[in-house]
Amino acid sequence: IPAPTIDFAAVIRTIPDYPKPGIMFRDVTSLLADPAAFRAAVDAMVAPYAEMGVAMVAGIEARGFILGGAISHQLAAGFVPIRKKGKLPLATIRVAYSLEYGVDEMEVHRDALTPGTRVLITDDLIATGGTAEAAVKLLRELGAEIVGACFVVDLPEVGGRQKLEALGVPVKALVAYQ
Ligand code: PRP
Ligand code: HPA
Repeated sequence: IPAPTIDFAAVIRTIPDYPKPGIMFRDVTSLLADPAAFRAAVDAMVAPYAEMGVAMVAGIEARGFILGGAISHQLAAGFVPIRKKGKLPLATIRVAYSLEYGVDEMEVHRDALTPGTRVLITDDLIATGGTAEAAVKLLRELGAEIVGACFVVDLPEVGGRQKLEALGVPVKALVAYQ
C-alpha cells in the first residue's frame, strides 16, 4: 500500500496583499506546522539529491533555514546560512539583490566553504529568483559547485526558475502557483 500522498498546496495558506498590495503571499508556516506535511515535504525535497554527493546545504534566511536544517540532516551534509546583511560575525562577502517586494543585501562567511564543495541551495519559495541568484553568486565566489536549488513553492509567472536555470542551476519545487 503506497503512503498517502500529501496535497502540499492544500496546506499552504495564501494571504492577499501581504506584505504589499497586489502580492499573493504563499505562507508555508501552515505546512511546517503540519507534522505529516512537513515530513513529506522534506522527504520529497531530499529524494532527488540522495545520490548526488551533496556536502553542504545552503539555506536562505529565514525560511530556508528551517527546511535546510532538516534537509542537511537527511543528506548527512553540513549547513551554511545565507544571511541578510549584518548578521554574520566574521569576514563576509556581500551581494545586493532585488526581490518581488524590495531590495536588500545577502552575505555569507568567507570561510563557509572550500572550493569545489558540492552545494544544494534551499528556500521556501522562488519568485523572481533574485534572492536565489544572490545565493548562487555568493556560493560561486567561494568556489562552490552548485548541484541544484530546491524550494517548496515556485511562482513560474515571475521567472525565477528560468533565471536560475540560465545560470546553470537546476531547479526543483514541490508546488507551482500561477
Ligand atoms: C522570501 C522567500 C525567498 C524570497 C523569494 O523571503 O522566502 O527568500 O522572498 O523571492 P525572490 O525569488 O523574488 O527573490 P523574504 O525576502 O520575504 O525574507 P524572509 O524569509 O527573511 O522573510
Ligand atoms: N511567500 C513567501 N515569500 C515570498 C512570496 C510569497 O508569496 N513572494 C515573494 N517572496
